[in-house]
Amino acid sequence: MKILITGAGGQLGRSLPAALFRHVVTTLPHKELDITRLNQVREAIRIYRPNLVINAAAFSSVDAAEGQKDQAFRLNLLGPENIAKVTAEYGAAILHVSTGYVFDGAARLPYREIDQPNPISVYGKSKLAGEHAVAAANPLHYIVRTAWLYHEAGNGFPNKLTSLGTGREIRVNREQRSSPTYAPHLARGIADLIETHIYGTHHMAGTGSASRFEFARALYSFLGLKAEVIPVSVKEFSEFAERPKYSVLTSRRETQIRLPDWEQGLTDFASTLRRARAAGV
Ligand SMILES: NC(=O)c1ccc[n+]([C@@H]2O[C@H](COP(=O)([O-])OP(=O)(O)OC[C@H]3O[C@@H](n4cnc5c(N)ncnc54)[C@H](OP(=O)(O)O)[C@@H]3O)[C@@H](O)[C@H]2O)c1
Repeated sequence: MKILITGAGGQLGRSLPAALFRHVVTTLPHKELDITRLNQVREAIRIYRPNLVINAAAFSSVDAAEGQKDQAFRLNLLGPENIAKVTAEYGAAILHVSTGYVFDGAARLPYREIDQPNPISVYGKSKLAGEHAVAAANPLHYIVRTAWLYHEAGNGFPNKLTSLGTGREIRVNREQRSSPTYAPHLARGIADLIETHIYGTHHMAGTGSASRFEFARALYSFLGLKAEVIPVSVKEFSEFAERPKYSVLTSRRETQIRLPDWEQGLTDFASTLRRARAAGV
């Protein structure tokens, strides 16, 4: 298959090429393709003629989206809509990535694809609007919802924590629970999914669940770093956006694709970091 990846410089975007080694892949980072510009999207698809476009571009900062609503909707709604429209014109498929933050977090059991979204943040609303636009514009669509994504080169929660240094007290929210997902694991799940041609919405996140506190404690332990991780209430943090307390995802789709469990994600993340350090990267 000929696959075009947009937002190729992000956490997921940079994980995808290795997982898609069987395919002919073109990667376009932001500086080479702005997905909010319909003419640029049209030109890229005219030149590369992909069978599938994977949109890994997003306005992904949940807090920043609260103050930059227009930009968040431009990128998370208009951008994927542009790609969906042009892929449809060419008879190509789109795989668009979304989030468990389309749910309100009131559930006590993992969210399934058939559960009713009810986003509580600008980010969640913009992502849900993007899902609807993609589904309306191209029947050949996969919408993959994931959660708490991280990668060695990203700005995810583990990177923020490790940048705080060691040997000190780290206060971490104990009230938010989700499915931490290591980006290379998601990339492999996506590679499996596109073989199925089973379109529609799919939940794909690290198996199991952790609170931010449990995730942080495991991270320090797996990295062999010393820190006193203290569980605290969300009220201690001046987060700009409201986040769902519970955004654990599960899949009921017939594809039966399951990602490795979230602790395996941290194990792989830690060993990649160790290898990079040993190589002096
Ligand atoms: N991160 C999470 O915890 C999380 C959780 C659930 C779902 N998701 C979803 O998973 C997907 C991948 O997230 P991620 O963490 O990999 O995101 P990311 O690391 O923030 O990457 C997003 C990429 O989009 C690019 N971009 C920004 N504006 C663009 C534009 N106008 N045109 C083209 N590219 C543009 C960015 O490039 P520049 O930086 O150069 O602008 C960046 O490389 C997103 O759909 C996100 O909503 C993420």
